[in-house]
Amino acid sequence: MSVVTVRAAAKINLRLGVGPLRDGFHALDTVYQAISLYDDVTVADAPDWSVAVRPLGGLDCTEVPTGPENLVVRAGRLLTGHHGLDRAAAITIDKGIPVAGGLAGGSADAAAALVALDRLWDLGTSDEDLLALAARLGSDIPFSLLGGTARGTGRGELVSPVVDAGSWWWVVVPNPQGLSTPAVYAEFDRLGGAGALAAEASAAVLAALRGGRWQDLAPVLENDLTSAALSLRPDLALIRSELSAAGARAVLLSGSGPTMLALAADRAEADRIRGALADFGHEDTVVATGPVAGAHLVEPEPDGPEDGAVAGA
Ligand code: C5P
Repeated sequence: MSVVTVRAAAKINLRLGVGPLRDGFHALDTVYQAISLYDDVTVADAPDWSVAVRPLGGLDCTEVPTGPENLVVRAGRLLTGHHGLDRAAAITIDKGIPVAGGLAGGSADAAAALVALDRLWDLGTSDEDLLALAARLGSDIPFSLLGGTARGTGRGELVSPVVDAGSWWWVVVPNPQGLSTPAVYAEFDRLGGAGALAAEASAAVLAALRGGRWQDLAPVLENDLTSAALSLRPDLALIRSELSAAGARAVLLSGSGPTMLALAADRAEADRIRGALADFGHEDTVVATGPVAGAHLVEPEPDGPEDGAVAGA
């Protein structure tokens, strides 16, 4: 195959329990969910690594690096190193996931690049090896491979799928100014850090997911990084109250922020909340649903009606 495109989804944390700092990372007990905001990563064989970023829907991508520090190149180098290959690729990212928003857009790209390059070069890397490579690249990249809804432990990289009977609706409120994940964790420590991780909190979320009722999920959504993010960005408190006023069933910080999320009872309600938020001046909100699939191949579009007819004959 000469060109391969893989799609990967944004993630949110339905619970983000943060424990003590160890070796530069915090112990986590988290419940991830993949939601319907996507980046598409397209790869083609090339003499050298390159990255091009194409924003979708007016997204600001000026902060996305296009050099070797971009996670997609690091993913590619890790994969070629793993197989002892000397190859490179031109990588294009069609970006629909807001940047530096706590939605793991960079992690989605890395996961998509691993899957796309594996297919491009027909490497047949095992799922186990892909997950291990992903974990070396970043704490939430294994989840981006997996998708759906999953519990994450360790520093977030140890993922196991969980039963999710719901079809959940979220209003996503991106923020024009990003937040740095290490800065939010550092602020978390400065504010006093963590005690022991309470496993019961994740158990409550998992029970609500099994039941599939928003009435059970709304009261147990929880993000331990909320105080730290609000300390760095006091303006988020206003968005939180606007979301409540707009009819959110629960309001949640996404990952390390600054994206905020409103849980809605169903799609129609999510659309209504989105409309109410526009009255508060939030024009660029989106409605998303979860859970959705992890990194997966996107089949090329048929070339047009004539070709399609021939192919179908
Ligand atoms: O693993 P990842 O590269 O996404 O982590 C980025 C930064 O976020 C880390 O360098 C660390 O500062 C912080 N982090 C953390 N504890 C985690 C995950 C991330 O402190 N479990």
